[in-house]
Amino acid sequence: MLPIRALASLAVGLSMVFDAWGFVMPHQDPTDILILVNKTNRAPAVPMALVKPDVTPTKEAYAENIYMRPEAASALEELFEGAAQDGITLYATSGYRSYSTQKAIFDRKLEKMSEKAANASVAKPGYSEHQTGLAMDLEGKTTLGTGLTEAFGESPEGIWVAENCHKYGFIIRYPKGKTDITGYIYEPWHIRYVGREAAAEIKELDVTFEEYILMIRGDRIDALKEGRPDEDAQ
Ligand code: DAL
Ligand code: ZN
Repeated sequence: MLPIRALASLAVGLSMVFDAWGFVMPHQDPTDILILVNKTNRAPAVPMALVKPDVTPTKEAYAENIYMRPEAASALEELFEGAAQDGITLYATSGYRSYSTQKAIFDRKLEKMSEKAANASVAKPGYSEHQTGLAMDLEGKTTLGTGLTEAFGESPEGIWVAENCHKYGFIIRYPKGKTDITGYIYEPWHIRYVGREAAAEIKELDVTFEEYILMIRGDRIDALKEGRPDEDAQ
């Protein structure tokens, strides 16, 4: 990984040329915790090992909806413990989703709103980060019962998560004011596990995951687009 100062200068350069999420990643490893899943990059279809983190679900009915990949589950347990030590109570609402679960969620949205509005808040089946087992939707004690809303971002729990989740390897995946880059509305409740190093760099640089991936993988993407040999290929 590049030193953070080199990344910071790349960030300045990229901010001039980067304006959308619409690039396609070549050859993603489905097991890579830095896998990019968004509107133009599908979630891997391969089955993966999942475990249920030892955290409290928002409702008992959600207890089977919170599975994650093991490394993300352990980090989530640590995040919940860290929050509790600071007097913050978090709940887990939605972790891993299968293709068919994501389809059901998307179809339900379509019944309530236009396709454009649905597309801004829910990923089409096949394109949700929840299908990687690396994402979790959170709720907090003070807004319990209100569902996944922007109010979480203003609550003590949402503020704690935004300030501290990087210490546990998570990022706020869809930050405020970044819809042009991520393709999605502000989702203060949706955290994504990327590992501590990447999470700290993303927080420090104040960039989206799309921008970060371009910074660390941009040369490789350009080489493949231009038909040059990909030196990173394995
Ligand atoms: N709400 C996020 C974008 C998802 O459906 O995966
Ligand atoms: Zn989510």
